[in-house]
Amino acid sequence: MDCSTALHAELCVLKGKVLKNRMSKQDALKKTPLLLLLLLFFAFALWAQEQKDQPPAKEPAQEYKIPPEDAAKVNPVKPTAESLTKGKKLYGFDCAMCHGENGDGKGDMASDIKNVTDFTKPDALKNRTDGELFYVIRRGKGEMPPEGDRAKNDDIWNMVNYVRSLAKK
Ligand code: HEC
Repeated sequence: MDCSTALHAELCVLKGKVLKNRMSKQDALKKTPLLLLLLLFFAFALWAQEQKDQPPAKEPAQEYKIPPEDAAKVNPVKPTAESLTKGKKLYGFDCAMCHGENGDGKGDMASDIKNVTDFTKPDALKNRTDGELFYVIRRGKGEMPPEGDRAKNDDIWNMVNYVRSLAKK
């Protein structure tokens, strides 16, 4: 448009205003997402900070793994009558309250604990090596407490022999 004449000049001013008005609206519209983004960013930063302050969420229960070298350990104690007698004695003190006097998994404490292994089941320990049983008895497993340093190695091997002897043929 030619803005040199008076009328045109006025029109031009008006047009300028309209344009300006439109522009500022457009600007505002353009800025809105930016503001939203900033807000989101701050919200995220706050959230991230909070996460950092909180103790890490509990990791899902880890699968129970026995190191292969422990599983492969060979039982150095033969299941002689002497070994079984010694194993039975310790078993009576430390294990029978859960696994039962006769190994059926129904000891006094077994009512509070689920899945206490029943040693009388012929296949309960079938797929376990002596090394694995040794490891479980020494370190514990799930709700079963570890024997820890209470027992000497041979004591534990005696108990391995004993619990194996409980399986019904
Ligand atoms: C507080 C109860 C409790 C006591 C005490 C306890 N156990 Fe256990 N035992 C368990 C439970 C529960 C399991 C099953 C654990 C699992 O598989 O999660 C188990 C499993 C076992 C297994 C099988 C492990 C496997 O991987 O199949 C053996 C062997 C065993 N116990 C031996 C013993 C011996 C030997 C003692 C004594 C020194 C003993 N336990 C004492 C509760 C107990």
